[in-house]
Amino acid sequence: MNKVGTMSELSAGKPIRATVDGEKILIFLVDDRPVATAARCPHAQGPLHQGEICGSQLICPWHGWTFNLPSGSCEEDPDLFLKTYKVECEGDDILVSVDAHA
Ligand code: FES
Repeated sequence: MNKVGTMSELSAGKPIRATVDGEKILIFLVDDRPVATAARCPHAQGPLHQGEICGSQLICPWHGWTFNLPSGSCEEDPDLFLKTYKVECEGDDILVSVDAHA
């Protein structure tokens, strides 16, 4: 597991951006818990750090497609999944593994 930030720096509208083992990831605060996802939308690579969190849904800024967190399922295309990663908290620290999926 790799430390990517702390809970105290994570706020609802602003994900933490990190690179773990070469993969660019985002940490969102969803229902008071951290959720780690790929940084780019699986539809057409939209920049998800500019996306909007609405409840447990992440809305892509480019075409407005909606992804459920933490499952990564997509409302517009059931065959499309946003990659999510295993996250743990240790005290205030947020730890992510890109080898294991959430
Ligand atoms: S790039 Fe995200 S919905 Fe199209």
